Amino acid sequence: MSDLEHIKKKLRDYGFYPDFSTKSKYFTKLKSYLGLKQANELLDNIDIIISSSEDPEHDIAHLVGQDSQLLKIIYSTGIVTSACIFNSMLEILDSIDIEPKVISDLGGANGWSLQLLDEYFELNSKLVLIDYNPNWDLVNENITVINSEYAHVTEKINADLIISIFGIKASEPESLLKCAANILANNGYLLISLRIPDDSTFKSFQETAISLGFGIVLEKSKRVQYFNSSAMFIETFPVLLISNNIKQSEIFRLKDIQID
Ligand SMILES: C[S@@+](CC[C@H](N)C(=O)[O-])C[C@H]1O[C@@H](n2cnc3c(N)ncnc32)[C@H](O)[C@@H]1O
Repeated sequence: MSDLEHIKKKLRDYGFYPDFSTKSKYFTKLKSYLGLKQANELLDNIDIIISSSEDPEHDIAHLVGQDSQLLKIIYSTGIVTSACIFNSMLEILDSIDIEPKVISDLGGANGWSLQLLDEYFELNSKLVLIDYNPNWDLVNENITVINSEYAHVTEKINADLIISIFGIKASEPESLLKCAANILANNGYLLISLRIPDDSTFKSFQETAISLGFGIVLEKSKRVQYFNSSAMFIETFPVLLISNNIKQSEIFRLKDIQID
């Protein structure tokens, strides 16, 4: 079994549906879970939020409320992309020397990626999940959870490794990057992937990161390509290895990052 298939299997064990490659499978599941009328109402409300909200993620989570099953059905539409990115993060980790005592995930949902990192390192690391949505049901009770906006995290975490997959909008990464800068140990690493669509968004991301003392480890970072079969186009996501131990003196373009 390839690493990606292993990750997908684990995601199924944790209640996600990584096989929602087409919209019709997602609709079918929603309808069987909620009933036709409620499913259609929910889909209409999600459409309204997507077309009008400043923060669709927050508003959709608010709409779903405390139903952790429903939360996982809805997030399953993007979970394969997260799995591909996580797989690429593991390949990057294969190439660096790190034995983290503390690992944190910013926007870690139900803790699936922290749990898989714990299994990857086999070091019994302390796992700290930061996510403002308290309605996720955790994959492992041993994960320490901080249900907070990134901007309000005050705990001293001293993480050797932080990961974040789609933890914030790419156009407004500041609160996440500030939180990462505050909780990262000296010489620690941040592995982050956001939906950075173009060089201008990438430039402002880098300016914020550099102002917080970060630098991108360009030769280890990657771009992951994923064929979105419902939208029928190839999406590309940068997976960035960032350190607080290197000074970055130039702004990179997306094409400077190797394709995975
Ligand atoms: C798109 S989901 C990604 C979840 C997970 N990383 C994955 O890839 O499966 C983003 C997560 O970040 C959390 N989140 C978004 N903005 C946040 C903020 N400002 N502070 C804390 N958590 C936030 C959401 O609650 C959600 O669980």
